[in-house]
Parts: sequence; structure tokens; C-alpha cells
Amino acid sequence: MKALQWQGDYLLILDQTKLPFEEKYREARSYLEVAEAIKNMEVRGAPVIGAAAAYGFALGAMEYQGEMNGLQEHMKEVRAVLESTRPTAVNLFWALRKMEDKLREVQNSSLDQIKQALVNEANTIAEDDRRMNRLIGEYGNTIVPEKANILTHCNTGTLATVEYGTALGIVRAAYESGKKVHVYAGETRPFLQGARLTAWELLQEKIPHTLITDSMAGYLMQQNKVDMVIVGADRIAANGDTANKIGTYSLAVLAFAHEIPFYVAAPTSTIDLKLSSGDEIPVEEREGKEIRMFMGVRVVPEEVQVYNPAFDITPAKYISGIITEKGIISPPFTVNLVKMLVK
Ligand code: MRU
Repeated sequence: MKALQWQGDYLLILDQTKLPFEEKYREARSYLEVAEAIKNMEVRGAPVIGAAAAYGFALGAMEYQGEMNGLQEHMKEVRAVLESTRPTAVNLFWALRKMEDKLREVQNSSLDQIKQALVNEANTIAEDDRRMNRLIGEYGNTIVPEKANILTHCNTGTLATVEYGTALGIVRAAYESGKKVHVYAGETRPFLQGARLTAWELLQEKIPHTLITDSMAGYLMQQNKVDMVIVGADRIAANGDTANKIGTYSLAVLAFAHEIPFYVAAPTSTIDLKLSSGDEIPVEEREGKEIRMFMGVRVVPEEVQVYNPAFDITPAKYISGIITEKGIISPPFTVNLVKMLVK
């Protein structure tokens, strides 16, 4: 099971909106198709959105048939379209910036060489993500007790990354090293990434797990059933404030109230030092139908007003540590995030 597979001249995307009941793939042969797949959440999860956008950028160049002097203008449009898909996960913008840098570096080469260089760069971004997730898993495993009940939210596994996962990668690493881990997976209303994707991944890996609805987390903690919380991130500001799937903030406050460690796991490409705090992170608001419907079935009349922010911001004060491929960052994040990034 892989969220993305580069096939030489197109990108094979596993349509995550159909999981877990249908394994359907889209063959994205143009940058517009990649943009559509990201926007519709056929491919979702911060790290893999970045990799998909990189391949979309490469496809944008491969599609170009015009004169050499029109390439830059065309690529500007490609980047703008890909950037307009989803606003919160900074990995998308990070990956496109890397692709743009590569384009600038090879701009005086032939069109064929430019196309090849961009495909190579997208492959490197994907390969780096695989490698970083393994390292996040290794670092994260050092703080997982021999026996642990771990609560997680949304999906941060293989499906959300190029491979292996971030928060779920840590669970995987702990399980592979022989620890007795059990996962409480929050269902993650309204898109149900926890129920449809995380539970499905854990089932395939045979990692012990229990699915809960989001509102059950507090009661579990009150009963001492949760040893630690590990979640992913879509963007981490310079002070450690973290944007992640809606519902993460509630878990952080609950964990704090019950003195349960609360960790964020993410590659350093998710850290956005340009933003001083979480107040500056753009939070995506999605269509109301995701709330008015449940798995394609209408549950409230169309006229009912709904609010559907896809992410929330967890203030740094609730975060025990940020687990990256370079190591675990402890508070105070304002000082330690910068220190880790220059390492
Ligand atoms: O809306 P999604 O499904 O793209 O949101 C995903 C999350 O919030 C994940 O927790 C985050 O991207 C980290 S994935 C390793």
C-alpha cells in the first residue's frame, strides 16, 4: 500500500477518499490532475502532499511543448495552481520552493534536461521523506515505554507520507522493536481519516488498536487508559504552536489536564520559522457538505448552517516535545527549534 508511485511519465495516486472499502487508483498525467487530487483529498497528509506537488511540478514541465522562452511563465502558472490547492500544510510550499530552486539552477539547460532534472528532484524529495520517517520512528521509539497505550488522531501513517509515517511511524517502530503497544485511534470527524485510514493501516500491520469516536478521549484519559498522545503536524510556527487536524487542540488540553505527555511528530520540512506564532498559520475551511453528510449519506438538511475548519492550532505550552528526523526538540521551542534546524 502506497499513497503515491511515480511511473516514469505519470503519477499513480491511491484515492484515499474511497478507502477502506475500495482500492482505486488515479493515473495523474498532468499537473492539473495532481492539483485536483490534492484539493479533493484523494492524496492527503502534509508530507505526501509535498511530494505529490513536487511530481505535479515535474509533470507541468513535461507537458510543456512551447518555445524555451515561454517555459518560466508556464511554470509560474503550474506553481500557482498547485499552491492554491490546500493552504495549511507548509510541506506543499516547501516542496514547490525546492522544485523552483532546481528549475532556476538548470534554466540554461535544454528542455529535455530540465524535465529530467525536475523529475530527479521530485524523486529526491520523495526519497528524503522515506528516510526522514524512519529516523522519526527511531527517535520517537526512544520515548515509548515497553508497554504503552498511545492515543493518536487523524492519519499519519504510510498513507500520509511517502512511506512509513510520522506519529504512526513511531508506533510502527515501537511495535517492530518488540514493545507492547496498543493504539487508540480517534475517528477524526468529519473526514474520518482515523476510522477509514489509521484503523485500516493498523489492521494490516496487525498492531493492536481500538477505534474511538473523538468525544471519547477525555473519558479514556480519566480512566488512566492513555499513557501518551502522539500526533502529526501540518505546520509548526517558530514558537512551537502547531497546526494539525481539527480536534488535536482538544486532545492537547485534555492531555495537559490529565498530566499525560503530548508529542508532535513531523519532519523539519513542517517547521515554518517565518511565522512567529500559530496565529499566523492559515487554517483551511472546507465545504459544509463534509459535515452535513456522513460517508455520502445526508444526516442534516442542506439549510442547516455548519462550520468546517479542517485544522486547529495547539499552543506550544501543551506540547511535551517535537519529534523530528534530527532528534527530539524539547521546550522552550522558540530557542530549540532554531538550534535543531541549523544542526
Ligand atoms: O486534511 P488532512 O488529512 O491532509 O490532514 C492530515 C493531518 O492533519 C495530519 O495529522 C498531518 O498532515 C500529518 S501527516 C504525517
